[in-house]
Amino acid sequence: EKNGYDHFMLKEIYEQPRVVEDTLRGKITDSSVKLDGINLTKEDLEKIEKINIVACGTSYHAGLVGKYLIEQNLRIPTEVDVASEFRYKDPILSEKNLVIVISQSGETADTLAGLREAKKKGAKVIGIINVVGSTITRESDGTIYTNAGPEIGVASTKAFVSQLTALYLFLLYFGEERNILSLEKRKYIVDGLKKLPEMIAEVLKRDNEILKASEEFKGVNSLMFIGRNINYPIALEGALKLKEISYIHAEGYPAGELKHGPIALIEEEVPTVAIAVKSDTYDKVISNIQEIKARSGKIIAVATDGDEKIKEHADIILRIHEVDEIFSPILTVLPLQLLAYHISNKRGLDVDKPRNLAKSVTVE
Ligand code: M6R
Repeated sequence: EKNGYDHFMLKEIYEQPRVVEDTLRGKITDSSVKLDGINLTKEDLEKIEKINIVACGTSYHAGLVGKYLIEQNLRIPTEVDVASEFRYKDPILSEKNLVIVISQSGETADTLAGLREAKKKGAKVIGIINVVGSTITRESDGTIYTNAGPEIGVASTKAFVSQLTALYLFLLYFGEERNILSLEKRKYIVDGLKKLPEMIAEVLKRDNEILKASEEFKGVNSLMFIGRNINYPIALEGALKLKEISYIHAEGYPAGELKHGPIALIEEEVPTVAIAVKSDTYDKVISNIQEIKARSGKIIAVATDGDEKIKEHADIILRIHEVDEIFSPILTVLPLQLLAYHISNKRGLDVDKPRNLAKSVTVE
């Protein structure tokens, strides 16, 4: 059932163009979305003043991307919590909050406990969930299914990309229902979403540079991942992927935070993966890269097609298409998934079943 791939993780990475199509299927027209299972009335929606996103691990990283998407486009304050923290912090919630829980399995114990806490306090809860009929879908007020299909690899890849896709759907839905997003803006987002599957497929074809990077860096003991704005959570996700399956120490940081401590770790043997795609903060990321180079740190840059300037700064360049920053996380995460995969594989490790980890964490 690996369809000729060596591992489930690789198969699942390559399924991502289809996964985005499946998450969108039947839910979008050219400017609107229809989310049948969300079960929120006009009245519920009008009350909402704040959104809380609750999740663990990779699903938490999707939630962090969601915060940037929602706050920047809808201007609704959005807080993201790791579920194990949320459940015990006595969160401030009422019917004015909409809680979004994100979970591939729909069975994660802490996320489920967060959901129960939210409902107890009168908030509406919707789930962005992959597994149909899972406990979280049964207990949520509504569900947006991600339709990624079964994910076997312990390291989550296609589920993440489908969660991001579902967050764009939520953005469109809420933006339309609450009259926040203009028709034009909605059309623009729908248009961008429809182009993603092809772009993903195209990025996945560019595996050669990633293989080269994995060969060069498979032996290091530590790596840094940096990004800014909506790609900061992708730096966290890149670091998590690498830790999980290659057992290499990795840290994900907002690029601007480096000089507040972690730059002390940089030396020749500690390379940095810098997400440096075209964006409002591109120049800032370049300055951060220069600070790293000045400490002899090697740079693997995730950069945009046609960006010549990056060649002056990076040792290895992993390219993605030029795309509006709003969509870039779905593309920037791809080379990081493949980098973790190849490094793990080259180190001779069990890519699909890394040590100490379970696919679904049903105990706290
Ligand atoms: O099933 P969930 O999405 O609730 O799982 C959450 C985390 O356990 C999961 O994302 C974990 O971090 C993965 N192993 C990441 O690759």
